[in-house]
Amino acid sequence: MKVFITRKVFDCAVDRLRSAGLDVDMYERDERIPREELLLRVRGTAGIFSFLHDRIDAEVMDSAGEHLQIIANFAVGYDNIDIDEAKRRGIVVTNTPGVLTDATAELAWALLLSTARLIVPADRFTREGKFTGWSPTLMLGMGITGKTLGVIGAGRIGTAMALKSKGFEMRVLYTSRRDNELLNRELSAIRVELDTLVEESDFISIHTSLTPETHHLIGERELRMMKRDCVLVNTARGAVIDERALLRALRERWIFGAGLDVYEFEPKITEGLCELENVVLLPHIGSATREVREKMATMAAEEICRVLSGKEPINRVV
Ligand code: GLV
Repeated sequence: MKVFITRKVFDCAVDRLRSAGLDVDMYERDERIPREELLLRVRGTAGIFSFLHDRIDAEVMDSAGEHLQIIANFAVGYDNIDIDEAKRRGIVVTNTPGVLTDATAELAWALLLSTARLIVPADRFTREGKFTGWSPTLMLGMGITGKTLGVIGAGRIGTAMALKSKGFEMRVLYTSRRDNELLNRELSAIRVELDTLVEESDFISIHTSLTPETHHLIGERELRMMKRDCVLVNTARGAVIDERALLRALRERWIFGAGLDVYEFEPKITEGLCELENVVLLPHIGSATREVREKMATMAAEEICRVLSGKEPINRVV
């Protein structure tokens, strides 16, 4: 049975697939596969090992053909896959939750801290030889301890991010479809409506998945409701924020700053954002530690091996 890996990946994953007797083909470059090549190379496959930048839709499934049984996405998010179409065709879709929870929550904190305390402009300032002596007014940022943290989406990553606020003695608000007992118990956190969270938080961290309901969840209206000193962090999916509205909010100082790891039109970044000092911009590295990425690769390979040998996958999305 043939498996196609859409981008060069760690040997551990390729070895796992080959050890199961699968015929593995891989796009050998460390870059996103061009669409035409993707359509060509998936032909006749039983399994596709995909990445979050690959749009896996009906056209790809058609091209793969009737033998396609599983799409294993190397990511926890799966908004790049047409889930309804996969479901309709009886194709299994899996993701890689759990292993990247702490790494992503840690990166959200790195963005929160660096945006609040102006770490990036301060570093640039120092490197440029502009540090000519201590000043009482140099690089005045936002304090964190004792402030209010608002977590949008209290799933695995949102929960981990919130729990890591303990040392900062914060008041924690969150949005979620249901109460999060762990957060309520450990942090006396309060589940609130989005508007309340947006109005009352000093720091807002986004951890919801991207769905039609969460697309542009944060737009001009919400940005205008935020405190003028608010710091907004996004390590989830770019399109949860209306990026053009955010650009205006940052330019016109409706909020203090933003820390972004993801973008609405990734890898394109809305023109003008890169010129601003009050935003920290990272290249989608939420889960980027070697240990985590190797675990994600092994998990995705394992799911393909399971499904193609007739077993139930561990992390089934559909
Ligand atoms: C990364 O963004 C992921 O969804 O794993």
